[in-house]
Amino acid sequence: MRHSRIIVTHYGGPDALQVLEEECPEPKNAEVRVRVLAAGVALPDVMAREGVHPETPPVPFTPGWDLVGVVDRLGTGVSGIEPGQTVAAMPIHGAYAEFVCLPQRELIPVPSGLDAAEAVSLILNYITAYQMLHHSAKVKPGQRVLFHGASGGVGTALLQLGRLAELEMYGTCSSRGASAVSDLGGIPIDYQHQDFVEEIHRLTSEGVDAVFDPIGGAHLWHSREALRPGGRVVGYGNTTSLRGEGLGSKGTGRRNRLHGIPIYALYIAGGWLFPGRKRIVPYSIQTLKRMRPALFRQDLIALFDLLQQHKIKPLVAERFPLAEARRAQELLGKGGVIGKIVLVGNGSTLASGAA
Ligand SMILES: NC(=O)c1ccc[n+]([C@@H]2O[C@H](COP(=O)([O-])OP(=O)(O)OC[C@H]3O[C@@H](n4cnc5c(N)ncnc54)[C@H](OP(=O)(O)O)[C@@H]3O)[C@@H](O)[C@H]2O)c1
Repeated sequence: MRHSRIIVTHYGGPDALQVLEEECPEPKNAEVRVRVLAAGVALPDVMAREGVHPETPPVPFTPGWDLVGVVDRLGTGVSGIEPGQTVAAMPIHGAYAEFVCLPQRELIPVPSGLDAAEAVSLILNYITAYQMLHHSAKVKPGQRVLFHGASGGVGTALLQLGRLAELEMYGTCSSRGASAVSDLGGIPIDYQHQDFVEEIHRLTSEGVDAVFDPIGGAHLWHSREALRPGGRVVGYGNTTSLRGEGLGSKGTGRRNRLHGIPIYALYIAGGWLFPGRKRIVPYSIQTLKRMRPALFRQDLIALFDLLQQHKIKPLVAERFPLAEARRAQELLGKGGVIGKIVLVGNGSTLASGAA
């Protein structure tokens, strides 16, 4: 049997994405072959394509952090899982494919009745949001928070989970995202036309308890200025490496996994050294998953539960067939996307889960 997958042929723009047709992979010992129903498209995929994400593999590679799919074939030594079950996984790369083989321990059952595109949105974006709120910032009801990139994939997840946690929320976004931010209970701040530090101090006087910053670089220090004493910035990205000047990449065409890391470390150290009791702490979903896989599993199960109870509703911005991965990444790279872009496989609209 043959299948398709997307490969990144070189580090660079969207033209680096090609569709490859090949024999379907066979599961090895302890592996399970999964037919992908939905794969998330996220800025970390775009950054890996450009060669500037810490998780960038050598080329050629198949991108795709997260997936929801159906168990299709079991390798030797696999038990306790049946073909036809719906599962989720975060392989970090490899999800832009019709079929993928993964170690059984990586698979997490998906409850029945969920839409595959909504379910996949929970893996990278909502776990990131959930763990930053509850493990990194340890938010409490009534606290004030500022989310940057509030209308994006992680940003809308932060707003939905922040509302459940009864937070007072402010969110930076461009004017295109303002209504989405208000609809989710946040007060929008137009980062293109307003100084968010001035705005936060005007609206709250003493500042916020926590800022969640995916922009990175000098922006982290600016975020620190929006804190009240004792507050913290959770730094979780380096969007600035793609969007510092317009929306173009500053990539060099080479793999540079340390891109932006030294300056990051400098700002974290500065947070400890400068007076004001305002810390900058980093968050990385892949690091926490590697160190505490049981916590990752537990948090994803908690999120599936919230989705089943209709307490959260991921915003799926657009669904593309796998073969249109390039168009999907181009759209994300242009900016202005509200919520999550998802690549869908055959039968995903019927994906009701069978776990
Ligand atoms: N550390 C981790 O574990 C982890 C996990 C997941 C994601 N991330 C990081 O999180 C970031 C966001 O990912 P995503 O998939 O949510 O991307 P996304 O859906 O494209 O959202 C990014 C948002 O940022 C906004 N934005 C761009 N520049 C901004 C600025 N200077 N100030 C405020 N907002 C700005 C964009 O708004 P406009 O388009 O309207 O300009 C967009 O809504 C990426 O850097 C990614 O690497 C980190």
